[in-house]
Amino acid sequence: MKYSKYNVVIIGSGISGLYLANKLAKSSNFSDGVLLITKEELFSGSSALAQGGIVSVIPEINKTDSIQSHIKDTIKAGCGLNKLNAVKFVSENSAQVAQELINFGVEFDKNDKNELNFTLEGAHSTPRILHSKGDSTGKVIEQTLCCELRKTNTVDIYENTMALELLVDKLNSCKGVVVYNHSRKYFEAIYSANIVLATGGIGQIYKNTTNPLVSTADGIAMAYSAKAEVENMEFVQFHPTALYCKNKKTLPLVSESTRGEGAKLVNLEGDYFAKKYHSMADLAPRDVVARAIVDQMKEESSNYVNLDISQIGIEKFRQRFPTITSLCTDNNIDISNGLIQVAPAQHYFMGGIKVDLNSKTTINNLYAIGECASTGLHGANRLASNSLLECAVFAQKLSEVLIKESLQPPKKFDEKIKDIIDKYEKMDNFSIEQDEFIEILFNELKSTMSKYCSIVRTKEGLSKALDVIKNIEVRIFDSELCESRLKFELINSIKVSKLIIDAALKRENSIGAHYRADYPNIEEKGQEAYDKLPA
Ligand code: FAD
Ligand code: SIN
Repeated sequence: MKYSKYNVVIIGSGISGLYLANKLAKSSNFSDGVLLITKEELFSGSSALAQGGIVSVIPEINKTDSIQSHIKDTIKAGCGLNKLNAVKFVSENSAQVAQELINFGVEFDKNDKNELNFTLEGAHSTPRILHSKGDSTGKVIEQTLCCELRKTNTVDIYENTMALELLVDKLNSCKGVVVYNHSRKYFEAIYSANIVLATGGIGQIYKNTTNPLVSTADGIAMAYSAKAEVENMEFVQFHPTALYCKNKKTLPLVSESTRGEGAKLVNLEGDYFAKKYHSMADLAPRDVVARAIVDQMKEESSNYVNLDISQIGIEKFRQRFPTITSLCTDNNIDISNGLIQVAPAQHYFMGGIKVDLNSKTTINNLYAIGECASTGLHGANRLASNSLLECAVFAQKLSEVLIKESLQPPKKFDEKIKDIIDKYEKMDNFSIEQDEFIEILFNELKSTMSKYCSIVRTKEGLSKALDVIKNIEVRIFDSELCESRLKFELINSIKVSKLIIDAALKRENSIGAHYRADYPNIEEKGQEAYDKLPA
């Protein structure tokens, strides 16, 4: 066991973690240093895959937009379950973070007049999404933030290092984290004044997801195990249009901005169907479009529908969406006939670790930012491209909090923390090899969640899922397998799956991304919630 101490430890190197690290890198307040740890290499999260872009509310240059209109769209998409203070906070800080990203060196796409080019996505009433190199927004932002961070050279970076357990004492204060370094093969107890979880999403608990392999809900599971409050766990977002491919652990995405630029969903008969389900048709909120596709697939006994891109023009599509074009080529999909086979897939998690506007969790000195946090911005369904914005806005604010406080690493630890460290001291055998048995159990979890706890849910299905998952748990604990990365990830995924199912069982109505076929009347409370807002 190795030991170290820091002022701040950031866990996760997606856009939220990198943005925060860059801001802290410039401060001289941290005499014991700032550490960024990440499970694989720096580029491993969902952020680098982001295609559509980042919401940027800049009415000074985008005359059709306003903060009020972004707030309204966010609340309507979230069906009124959003926290107004979080929505306002994000919207009002949007222009500032767009400018800051530009200052970091991010080049957003411009139009023929050399003005910022705003695109449209589902449920937005006006184009307000900035993008980079067409559909490579996440990659460009991550590359820029990584490059900046490496230049400053003031933040320590541990790659291939997995956070395993938070060191939370009897008085509910987080004093550090135990990690495992896969490359050097040792455990390390890192003591720190503040710990920031930036561990991203949960997609790998589902069979069909757009999320990368690292998205196994670790941060949420660790925080919950340490008794942090979690909330909104029933709200899982399914993107309507992942590329239809068999047996892929991460499905390539076909951005909603393709529909923003004119592509249309058609069934196998070639009929445009979206209008039948919502007045905004192909650009209705994601939950509506995803359910419409499921309905069409059921009607035609098909595993996919088609996205008709001929409206955009194939050549123009190739230029505007180079990433999607190469994803199609890599998966042997020929786009020259104008049709791309697509199906819904898990994409984003609205729930997570409950935080306030300073990203503070319910455990002292523990913060959460990005997708693992529940800030209240999204309500029952996230508005497209609000996630990268949320990552940046909350990371920006948290940097101010941490710089102002500049706390020293802890010096005293109670029995509870000593016991946790002792457990890992004794754990001499930790494998990073894939284990076939754990892999089988993981696949069982994924199939169960996809079958019973996805776009359409029922009490019967959810209860069945709970039974299957409890049985998987028993089999893990009976197996006497040695500790391994995959086993930790599976246990984390199980904890969070159970929380999702519990919350889904408790919510006996249909709202946003949570649809119960046994309570089929969909509540649309967004407009009502917006109308009640103070002017
Ligand atoms: P991530 O970027 O997922 O990063 C999480 C990090 O935590 C990773 O570095 C991971 O390795 C690390 N980590 C996880 N567990 C551990 C552990 N135990 N120990 C150490 N490190 C750990 N949103 C938009 O707003 N606009 C878009 O255009 C858009 N497109 C998307 C396209 C795709 C394909 C996907 C999957 C998502 C998209 N989203 C988009 C959503 C958005 O990308 C994510 O919500 C956002 O990037 C999450 O950022 P993050 O920093 O919270 O986490
Ligand atoms: C997309 O490009 O469709 C994804 C955007 C998002 O998830 O916000």
